[in-house]
Amino acid sequence: MLRKELDALTPELYIELRRKVEFEDYSIEDVTQALEKTLFSVVIYDDDVPVGIGRIVGDDRIVFFIKDVVVDPSYQNKSIGTAIMKALMEYIEGKACNNAYVGLMSTPNKEGFYKKFGFIERPTEKYGHGMVKFVNRNIDNS
Ligand SMILES: CC(C)(COP(=O)(O)OP(=O)(O)OC[C@H]1O[C@@H](n2cnc3c(N)ncnc32)[C@H](O)[C@@H]1OP(=O)(O)O)[C@@H](O)C(=O)NCCC(=O)NCCS
Repeated sequence: MLRKELDALTPELYIELRRKVEFEDYSIEDVTQALEKTLFSVVIYDDDVPVGIGRIVGDDRIVFFIKDVVVDPSYQNKSIGTAIMKALMEYIEGKACNNAYVGLMSTPNKEGFYKKFGFIERPTEKYGHGMVKFVNRNIDNS
């Protein structure tokens, strides 16, 4: 039986689910600090097995960023990702002001999944490319 828990994402679950889809690892200390600043999260369980997660960061009014939407590969294409996105978007609907900005960065070939929730692909005539920078603390500057 699938069930949804709101605001129940723990560092252990975060690390476990991200590992299942081979996303980069972060230390438990970094994840613990990061989750303290998370606005809202969702965890989907199959009985007691965690099978999906998602979370939102931002200022809770003007800017929201959807992050770490992950479904265990053996549970994908069973509408769990959709359930996660619906819960995240419902939270945002309840908090966002008019013209609030809701961002996310799709992994390759998942754009179609997010389009179903009203997200548009950049660039457009009006909007430039989405951009990102990763902080590399392992560079030897000596
Ligand atoms: C992206 C992800 C969360 C989707 O979760 P999921 O549980 O497999 O998705 P769902 O089963 O809810 O899919 C919902 C619908 O989107 C469709 N869909 C899924 N991926 C799609 C894609 N790349 N393009 C278009 N449609 C897609 C499905 O066919 C399904 O359509 P339907 O409802 O009409 O049958 C999941 O594939 C995942 O965890 N991938 C690895 C991690 C990842 O890339 N996360 C995204 C981070 S930005």
